Amino acid sequence: MGRVAGKVAVVTGAASGLGLASSRLLAQEGATVIMADVNAEQGHALANEIEGAEFHALDVTKEQAWIDLFETVNRSCGRVDILLNCAGIVRLASIEQTTEDDWRAVHAVGTDGTFYGCKHVLPVMKAQGAGSIINMCSTASIQGAPGVFAYAASKAAIRAMTKSIACLSTENGYGLRCNSIHPYNMATPMLEGVQEQVRRGNPEAAAGMDQVWVGEADDVANMVLFLASEESKAVNGAALVIDNTATVTQAAVMKQV
Ligand SMILES: NC(=O)c1ccc[n+]([C@@H]2O[C@H](COP(=O)([O-])OP(=O)(O)OC[C@H]3O[C@@H](n4cnc5c(N)ncnc54)[C@H](O)[C@@H]3O)[C@@H](O)[C@H]2O)c1
Repeated sequence: MGRVAGKVAVVTGAASGLGLASSRLLAQEGATVIMADVNAEQGHALANEIEGAEFHALDVTKEQAWIDLFETVNRSCGRVDILLNCAGIVRLASIEQTTEDDWRAVHAVGTDGTFYGCKHVLPVMKAQGAGSIINMCSTASIQGAPGVFAYAASKAAIRAMTKSIACLSTENGYGLRCNSIHPYNMATPMLEGVQEQVRRGNPEAAAGMDQVWVGEADDVANMVLFLASEESKAVNGAALVIDNTATVTQAAVMKQV
């Protein structure tokens, strides 16, 4: 018997990295997984390899696309038990370098996408009297992250949205839970892209970067599985870090001494 057997999960950002690893594990543990991503070619190909998964093209920045997605899933599966908001993009830029385009692009996917997902799954889960929303944040929302300014701000917004939804649900007896996951560096194409940019632009910082702890996508998928399952039925409004102590011991700023 799988840990999420019979549940229906919608996962965004499912064509890569943490969303893909989570989709695989949820399907392996018995869920029907709707893998949603803007990268339709890769998403289709990957979903075809996962038993229990199907792909649905979704640009999370488009509110109507979310409404259509939940209508389709509700029609075909009759329910939505799990929503993992995992789609995200990053721009390597401090506040001094961040353009309006950087700011809006990062927030469109991260902040707006998560808002639309939560807003439109809420009536479905409320009607069911149950559901688990899992929002992918970052340790950047806890410590700040000077080099990815817009990203850290977007993740902080998602962290606050998560707690507000959890409290709303508890206050009104909706029965759904909403939690956020805060990974530090995890080995995915997103991290590889950032590291490659740092290597090209700032070799000195790159040398330090190679000493930093990096987790695996499955470390995050395991936390997703826990939050998606009934094992976490008492966990609501939590911000769970996966960082091997990074937020405990490591400052975000390398001080000049
Ligand atoms: N990798 C890390 O170190 C790390 C650390 C903390 C948090 N995160 C967060 O985890 C999540 C997943 O990151 P990842 O490392 O797997 O990244 P990734 O780049 O490997 O995957 C992100 C996925 O999101 C999709 N996506 C981008 N824009 C989209 C849109 N408009 N609509 C739908 N899908 C869209 C991409 O096509 C891609 O498949 C992100 O929210 C990221 O911020 C990652």
